[in-house]
Amino acid sequence: MRLDNKVAIITGGASGMGRAEAEAFAAEGARVVIADLNEVMAEEAAAGIRSAGGTALAVRTDVTDEQNLENLVARTIAEYGQIDVLVNNAGVFDKYATSLETAGAQWDFIFNINVKSVFNLTNLVLPGMIAQGGGSIVNIASVAGLVAGKGGAAYTASKHAIIGYTKHLAATYGKDGIKINAICPGTISTPLIAASLADIPTDAIPLRRFGESAEVADLAVFLASDEAKFMQGAMVPIDGGFTIQ
Ligand code: NAI
Repeated sequence: MRLDNKVAIITGGASGMGRAEAEAFAAEGARVVIADLNEVMAEEAAAGIRSAGGTALAVRTDVTDEQNLENLVARTIAEYGQIDVLVNNAGVFDKYATSLETAGAQWDFIFNINVKSVFNLTNLVLPGMIAQGGGSIVNIASVAGLVAGKGGAAYTASKHAIIGYTKHLAATYGKDGIKINAICPGTISTPLIAASLADIPTDAIPLRRFGESAEVADLAVFLASDEAKFMQGAMVPIDGGFTIQ
């Protein structure tokens, strides 16, 4: 299978795209660690994978808590011995709040989860990947990291930040055999935006529909696998064509 012998941490793996990624990774042979704030849903997701014959562990993690992140890495190493893939997927949305509608605390909330936690966890995982001679990091950005209008002020800025950080990582750690890329989903039907979906028109999307979590998960599997071994610092839109026009 495409991810045999790989150990993958997926943040926000209890719901939406993260859950689909966890299931797809496990189906391709990876041992998966689901790191999520929602312990009940994380346990459910891991149990579902195990009952389908895969290998998965749930670790209750608040990605904004550095001790939680240290515990996540330690538990993964204790259980599976290594970390080959990190999918920085956990994220929160700002419901299109403009700059004037965004309080400082809301800006910090969005940035702590969407950006700073990615920096903190990546820094905890990178030394092991460097020591073992390779690894793969997949950052879930957004089309809101490429264009305006697909989120509010804080969300758009946070996703642009993740793309800049991905480029830095890719340029710096490629020499260590670490493959680092970003996925830029368009509107994907998940609990994160379920409440807004009815108000989002599909006529600006050439394929005239929203995406599915499993479609993003397929791309994440490809980027994490050895098939993508010459992909580095790519920002791959998966948006039904939204950003081409
Ligand atoms: P979701 O809301 O379905 O799932 C997000 C998961 O992250 C949840 O399980 C939640 O418990 C977890 N989470 C939230 N805060 C956390 C924290 N502090 N620590 C640990 N876990 C936490 O969201 P969805 O839609 O699957 O989004 C996943 C990623 O994709 C996010 O980074 C989001 O910004 C991005 N994205 C989503 C799009 C969409 O249309 N749904 C479009 C583009 C990007």
